[in-house]
Amino acid sequence: MSVLSAPTTSASTASVDLGPASALSCRECGQRYPLGPIFACAECFGPLEIAYDLPTGDPEGLRARIEAGPASIWRYAELLPVPADVATKPNLNPGWTPLVRADRLAAELGVTGGLWVKDDSGNPTHSFKDRVVANALEAARAFGFTTLSCSSTGNLAGAVGAAAARAGLRSCVFIPHDLEQGKVVMAAVYGGDLVGIEGSYDDVNRFCSELIGDPAGEGWGFVNVNLRPYYAEGSKTLAYEICEQLGWRLPDQLVVPIASGSQLTKIDKGLRELISLGLVEDRPYRIFGAQAEGCSPVSRAFKDGHDVIRPVKPNTIAKSLAIGNPADGPYVLDIARRTGGAVEDVTDAQVVDAIKLLARTEGIFAETAGGVTVGVTRKLIESGALDPTLTTVVLNTGDGLKTLDAVAPTTGPTAIIRPDLDAFREAGLA
Ligand SMILES: Cc1ncc(COP(=O)(O)O)c(C=O)c1O
Ligand SMILES: [Zn+2]
Repeated sequence: MSVLSAPTTSASTASVDLGPASALSCRECGQRYPLGPIFACAECFGPLEIAYDLPTGDPEGLRARIEAGPASIWRYAELLPVPADVATKPNLNPGWTPLVRADRLAAELGVTGGLWVKDDSGNPTHSFKDRVVANALEAARAFGFTTLSCSSTGNLAGAVGAAAARAGLRSCVFIPHDLEQGKVVMAAVYGGDLVGIEGSYDDVNRFCSELIGDPAGEGWGFVNVNLRPYYAEGSKTLAYEICEQLGWRLPDQLVVPIASGSQLTKIDKGLRELISLGLVEDRPYRIFGAQAEGCSPVSRAFKDGHDVIRPVKPNTIAKSLAIGNPADGPYVLDIARRTGGAVEDVTDAQVVDAIKLLARTEGIFAETAGGVTVGVTRKLIESGALDPTLTTVVLNTGDGLKTLDAVAPTTGPTAIIRPDLDAFREAGLA
């Protein structure tokens, strides 16, 4: 998305209750704004993010309240821009997904320090996007929006459609017209409007920015544009869950996929919050970003030592990550460099291999984004950038059933036989 578009406010901001969220703050210049459906600083056009009054001083009490909370992201409601009674409102209750100890994958990759897969494929619409949309939904309700919208590379459209259906709101979502069938059907099935745009995700996003400034978009909450500060906070819950599931401990290394880069930056924010709240011991962690070679503007900039991301035209099977002009790319570079991580990319063939490797070793069927993180993990180990003796968490952010096209050409029956034992023996499978 372009954060440089003029901020617009077209819904009510009176008496907003978004829990501990106290203001919006410019990531670049620190300028503060009242909570509202705005996303860019009027002074410097920097992106806005949520500032909080977080519960300090009693980490043991906070930890106990979290542990007694619901098995969803709402166990962390005290740390999110949502009202305290959020769990009682109609929503999809995403999150609290498994952190899978991946010993067989570790053995294949040569990881000895402990390897886990944070498997977000089991969310209500089968990707991590339910986390971010659930947060944006609360902001949409608080600001009085009645239509929920987004520009999407696929997963977000389904997550918005489902969340709107559950909440009783209208939805109208925008996607590139040539997405995988599984994502198109999932985006349409919840009964909202789905619009295919003849162009790339970056064209879709530009179009949505124009729509926000037009009377046609009046009263619309675009979860990843004018509600982006609230939406983005949902990704912090991945960091919270990973640490809680490790026994309130930071992992040493995390491998995170990058499309716009929002998720990676908010995982870092979530980890830093846990440290400053005293919920985990403060020690170093490294964050690694993962892209597909056919859409690797952040990886390119990291390898070239640049601070500026040069936009690309995506061409990869990892369509969910196909953002050629990632809004949070520069912040991803900062985080990878600050934490001693890296940004790496893999070819489409390596993505397919990695999807099959994860499925074969751990019984987890990842969408292409998960193939990207597992493939990049392998590459980072081979290059020595990722230390195999340290605890490592790899994210799988989506479900392989959504991207069957990626593996279908090379995956299928071992044999097709007549229904008799002779035929079975002839096939050599006994
Ligand atoms: C499955 C999946 N993983 C990861 C991402 C990356 O998200 P972000 O834009 O926050 O970098 C996306 C974005 O669409 C996605 O669909
Ligand atoms: Zn600013």
